[in-house]
Amino acid sequence: MSTIMNAGIIPLPKILDLRGNLSFVENMNQIPFSICRTYWLYDVPGGESRGGHAYRENEEFVVALSGSFDVMLDDGFKKQVFTLNRSYYGLYIPKGLWREMDNFSTNSFALEFGSVPFDEGDYVRDYNEFVQLKTHGKI
Ligand code: TYD
Repeated sequence: MSTIMNAGIIPLPKILDLRGNLSFVENMNQIPFSICRTYWLYDVPGGESRGGHAYRENEEFVVALSGSFDVMLDDGFKKQVFTLNRSYYGLYIPKGLWREMDNFSTNSFALEFGSVPFDEGDYVRDYNEFVQLKTHGKI
């Protein structure tokens, strides 16, 4: 069963160049799973929050390609906030953690990689249900 301890910031390769810098990710390398899906968040209005759910199976890797935002992770017992504000750091989020994203800066751009195809059935969107599932080791 995943806990906050299984989540964490992963530094990405950074190829410095006077022409501009370059970073990259590879399956099972910087990203500790095989990428199945990529999506992105953009034009998030000031003060809005995203997330507010957990995934039963989906693992994620989140990069702030521009701007900054906070990702709050919760394993049912403990919470931790990760601030993402550099395009050469990613946050690995194992399955089974509640997550919320907020404090999006103007023009922030969140790139998210997932390990499984989109499936609404993979979501737990009710926090009390999440805590119950977590307490009983079912997520
Ligand atoms: P959701 O995952 O709840 O967004 P966030 O966690 O960023 O707040 O998704 C919002 C909507 O977009 C929801 O109706 C499902 C849909 N969606 C897809 O169709 N495909 C996807 O890959 C994702 C991530 C979401």
